[in-house]
Amino acid sequence: MRIAVVGATGMVGNVMLKVLREQNFPVTELIPVASERSVGQKIDFAGMSYSIVGLQTAVDMKPDLAIFSAGGETSLQWAPKFAEVGTFVIDNSSAWRMDPTKKLIVPEINGDLLTVDDKIIANPNCSTIQMMLALAPLHKAYTVKRVVVSTYQSITGTGMKAVQQMENERAGIDGEMAYAYPIDKNCIPHCDSFLDNGYTKEEMKLTQETKKILDPSIRVTATAVRVPVVGGHSEALNVEFEKDFELQEVRKLLHDSPGVTLKDDPTTNTYPMAKYAEGKDDVFVGRIRRDESQENTLNMWVVADNLRKGAATNAVQIAHLLIQKGFLKM
Ligand code: A2P
Repeated sequence: MRIAVVGATGMVGNVMLKVLREQNFPVTELIPVASERSVGQKIDFAGMSYSIVGLQTAVDMKPDLAIFSAGGETSLQWAPKFAEVGTFVIDNSSAWRMDPTKKLIVPEINGDLLTVDDKIIANPNCSTIQMMLALAPLHKAYTVKRVVVSTYQSITGTGMKAVQQMENERAGIDGEMAYAYPIDKNCIPHCDSFLDNGYTKEEMKLTQETKKILDPSIRVTATAVRVPVVGGHSEALNVEFEKDFELQEVRKLLHDSPGVTLKDDPTTNTYPMAKYAEGKDDVFVGRIRRDESQENTLNMWVVADNLRKGAATNAVQIAHLLIQKGFLKM
């Protein structure tokens, strides 16, 4: 299969190449795509060396699949051009997520919605994906009414420039800033840009994407915070249900849920942490406890590698689904 990875030199693109390899995705030819400044550079993949090409060259090559992680503007402009030549596009940006004609897919939850006509498929926001994995089995059992979520998000979600900013700060170098403020030894309550309602785009993604993926009746309010962490996003969730629950049953439902690993034992200080989620494909859930201030409500702590299940792993799982369904031919 001929696969274009758009944004191959970026943070997500790098992990995408790794995950394609690990999952033995049937790549016969890789078409690495990046901005004009990278064209001609080489990328190694599966023992071969490939030259980076520009977007128009990649469209002209009519790949079977294009996975985009190069920002919303690039996706808006170029995803339709790939779709027009018959390429399936899996897009990591926010460009198409809320478009009613595009599906927003987490394979474990709504992968069955995909049809052969879905040429541009949206990958949800990283913070949304991990929250969905933790909520979906509980929604089925007890019906989620409302979620209050606070995020502690890794700087890798912002891209290379942010990682460089933190490294510069730690080395005492005055370099280019990805954020408006220093990130090392700081927490910045500002992920993506501000909207007129006082929320950030990241916060509204959690609200709107949850409705689209899981259930339009679920109410979500979010505070998204950038923390000086690499390795994963953490989220504190307060979830109110229609029905009452037993904590042991909640743990069992999560334990039995594909893509979820339960790490929840206060007696042994067992709980999920970003440092240990790094490099793993699962979503980790722990600190599950009843909210004693309100009925039918619990608190939990949800952690995942934002570059993996939050981006690359989910995208490659969607690609596998396209093969399983017979839409992508090997
Ligand atoms: P390049 O390395 O040539 O700038 P990150 O989010 O980690 O910063 O990565 C962004 C990725 O998107 C990089 O691979 C970058 O390529 C790519 N990219 C950015 N702008 C464009 C564009 N206009 N066309 C194609 N690729 C782009």
